[in-house]
Amino acid sequence: MSNMSHESYKIIIQYVFDICGIVLGDDKQYLVEQRISPILEELGCTSFEDLANKLSTGVHNFLVREKILNAMTTNETSFFRDEHPYVAFREKIMPDMMERVRQRKDRAWQRRGPKVNMWSVAASTGQEPYSMAMIISDVVNMKGMGLVTMEDFGILSTDISSKVLSKAMEGRYGPLEVARGLTPEMRNRHFIQDGEHYVVNDKLRKIVEFKSFNVQDQFTQLGSFDVIFCRNILIYFTDDAKRKILSQFFHILAPNGYLLLGSAENMYNLNNDFTTERYGATTIYRKLA
Ligand SMILES: C[S@@+](CC[C@H](N)C(=O)[O-])C[C@H]1O[C@@H](n2cnc3c(N)ncnc32)[C@H](O)[C@@H]1O
Repeated sequence: MSNMSHESYKIIIQYVFDICGIVLGDDKQYLVEQRISPILEELGCTSFEDLANKLSTGVHNFLVREKILNAMTTNETSFFRDEHPYVAFREKIMPDMMERVRQRKDRAWQRRGPKVNMWSVAASTGQEPYSMAMIISDVVNMKGMGLVTMEDFGILSTDISSKVLSKAMEGRYGPLEVARGLTPEMRNRHFIQDGEHYVVNDKLRKIVEFKSFNVQDQFTQLGSFDVIFCRNILIYFTDDAKRKILSQFFHILAPNGYLLLGSAENMYNLNNDFTTERYGATTIYRKLA
């Protein structure tokens, strides 16, 4: 495979930026070559130049966009990633959510369906939303007393990559994937073994809904959320894009809602609307009413 010219590189990274907002600097040419070269043939191209030409003239279809998105997004994730945000979720956020369910059930006019809505913004292969669902299940079992049930919770899981989204929907993980973050006890409680693989049980699956969504788009169509997990995605975007996304989170969060970012992400110089609270090692961003 021939090396990519700088001109072709520029065209390809501009295309990636336009479709999903991911910024690739001059130092990432090796990465783009490494990820695009195995799919060049599938894209109907004989060289990077050929692809660059296709992209710049607009002569390409939806499938080309999908394949480039699937190749260029970084989907690294694990169950209970970084651990501490999930401790905060279990100990600080969930007691509040249980109370919200009770209060909302008391209001006769409250709509049917989940009483508390959560959003896993960049769900990747599903470990993040299923980790949230495992905690919800454990807390409901321990504290629900039959008055709060799993059906009172809904988790919307979104990602732009169709490849990871379909794996997330399948909810089927290999031994190495479950070993990253799950104790054998958690695994046995929430998964069904299928040969070497482990499949998320129906109790968790029932409250998680999957949808393809680009965070560069408007959020209003998605509704309102009590908790938003937006972890390890903002790092890929420009400050301007981060500002737009954070401001939209603020608007769609319910009063007193919670937002959790990735461990390497913060709002410094980006947004002043949120109130921050610390819980252990976790910074919790809140929209105080
Ligand atoms: C590193 S993973 C983070 C997974 C999970 N949140 C975690 O912290 O473990 C980043 C995810 O963001 C998704 N992504 C990248 N750009 C996106 C966009 N514009 N809209 C929605 N998802 C996007 C990628 O497909 C990828 O699955």
